[in-house]
Amino acid sequence: MFHTLAVPVIAAPMAGGASTPELVAAVSDAGGFGFLAAGYITVEQLAEKITQTSQLTSKPFGVNLFVPGTRPTADISSYVDRVTACAEKVGAVPGDPRWDDDNYAAKLELVLALRVPVVSFTFGLPDADDVQRLKATGTTIVVTVTTPSEARQAQQIGADVLCVQGADAGAHRGTFTDDGISPGGGELYGTLAALTLVRNTVDLPVIATGGLMRGADVAAVLAAGAVAAQLGTAFLGCPEAGTTAVHREALAEGARRTALTRAFTGRPARGLVNRFLIENSVHAPAAYPNVHHLTKPVRATGELEVMSLWAGTTYPLATAEPAADIVRRLHAELTDVVNSLAERFQRG
Ligand SMILES: Cc1cc2nc3c(=O)[nH]c(=O)nc-3n(C[C@H](O)[C@H](O)[C@H](O)COP(=O)(O)O)c2cc1C
Repeated sequence: MFHTLAVPVIAAPMAGGASTPELVAAVSDAGGFGFLAAGYITVEQLAEKITQTSQLTSKPFGVNLFVPGTRPTADISSYVDRVTACAEKVGAVPGDPRWDDDNYAAKLELVLALRVPVVSFTFGLPDADDVQRLKATGTTIVVTVTTPSEARQAQQIGADVLCVQGADAGAHRGTFTDDGISPGGGELYGTLAALTLVRNTVDLPVIATGGLMRGADVAAVLAAGAVAAQLGTAFLGCPEAGTTAVHREALAEGARRTALTRAFTGRPARGLVNRFLIENSVHAPAAYPNVHHLTKPVRATGELEVMSLWAGTTYPLATAEPAADIVRRLHAELTDVVNSLAERFQRG
């Protein structure tokens, strides 16, 4: 599936509004491949987005699902108090810190019934039985992994393709467990390191993701054995993206550093540093999605200093071009890199 793309560039699924049918269709139409994000929306909304995207493009596109984890056992009451105090300052009422499974089973049945050509999973492993049911209808299964160990597990449940995510990536890490940002946690591999280690561990096609912005980055991951590069932050400034104005401005300004934090959702994610992130990161429990529901009304105020401003480390390189122009530019840059390398080695 990904080997045959005219341009080996994938628009990452971006839950929370950024991935619109227009963005996904524009990338697939331009010769890349777009993913819709199923996270946080209802089954009906997902069905609507799939229908809209199919009306906008005749090219294939994918859908990404959040795999539910187990209910967190941590006592989060002191974090509820912190967020309540913060909410009062911006005139919001904190949300109910409940656990839910993001309607995973119903979303799975929907993509199965609609025969979506590619389904990707993040935050964990789908059941091997579900993988077989999807594969039986011709669906290609992608599983996001961040370590060689996760790659091995994804291979065992029958994944066709792995999406190897490095620590530069914007928004949530796709780790199977909440790991890696605490002292003594798991390794935080950069994109090339993760890619090379995973390729050395399993023999499956891999997509690389995290911090990729230019054609040279795409060339680098292809040279390291990836079949395609998946870019998220690079598409956040596109007119077709559903990125909020406040988020766009903060990205365009390029003045803030990024950090990994559990403060907004209870799961490690990379975003621009703001007041909420600074004040709450060390206190935030590993309790996803409870913390997501708790902070949602605070983030929804649209106040710059309390919003989750997801961004990968290379976000200052993102542009506001239309998505098709980004895909075309990446292709031209990639071709230039390949040609100049070929020329260099031919010269001897
Ligand atoms: C705003 C935003 C939302 C994201 N939402 C999802 C998601 O719903 N599912 C998913 O698998 N990855 C999600 N990601 C992560 C991307 O798949 C990808 O790993 C990441 O964007 C790569 O790093 P980059 O942003 O530096 O390109 C999101 C990324 C961003 C920036």
